[in-house]
Amino acid sequence: MTVALAFDIYGTLIDPHGVVDELALHVGERAQEFSDVWREKQLEYSFRRGLMGRYENFPTCTRQALDYSDSLLQTGLDESARDALMQVYRKLPAYEDVPASLQALASAGFRMFGFSNGVADAVSGLLQHARIDQYFEGVVSVDAVATFKPDPAVYRHFIEVAATDADNCWLVSSNAFDVIGAVSAGMKAAWLQRSSSVVFDPWGIDPTRVIHRLDELIQEISI
Ligand code: 2OP
Repeated sequence: MTVALAFDIYGTLIDPHGVVDELALHVGERAQEFSDVWREKQLEYSFRRGLMGRYENFPTCTRQALDYSDSLLQTGLDESARDALMQVYRKLPAYEDVPASLQALASAGFRMFGFSNGVADAVSGLLQHARIDQYFEGVVSVDAVATFKPDPAVYRHFIEVAATDADNCWLVSSNAFDVIGAVSAGMKAAWLQRSSSVVFDPWGIDPTRVIHRLDELIQEISI
């Protein structure tokens, strides 16, 4: 059975901090700080909504996290600035190691999916914008099960869509909470440690493999 690779999107293939240039137009030197708060809060909202069973989709979490960040940092963004930032979020860039790595994996014959908290049309749009959509068999969004990573239901959903066994499915993610969620649900997982300052959670649930650039993946997984 051919291995199915489930690529996390935000933080793994697509850089959520690609919004910093647009932010700088509105908040100046605080752009990186704003981007950090925004991303953290977006994920926190997804976790909390999952726990509470109060699902609203990821664009809603992103927009509410944007409003929160503006209030916290007192940056006074008007409605048109908020809309512009949300538009940029739909055109975030891929990391530089992504296109060639995906091409090599596709040539080797791996089945490849985007697998994200993001809604399917937003994820498809990002993959198209980055010109990497051709490598994917499909996009699997948590939206179909109305909860978020790391709820085990979303990993079960991926395995069901891929129509293969759990241990034949690999998550590839830079997000430690996602890796732990996938391994806990019976999948294999490669943790992409994009920066040496990022620490893996000491829960005793370890990644199957650790890589530091996406192009290392092909040496670590056999088809
Ligand atoms: C994603 O699902 C967790 O943001 C991450 O794309």
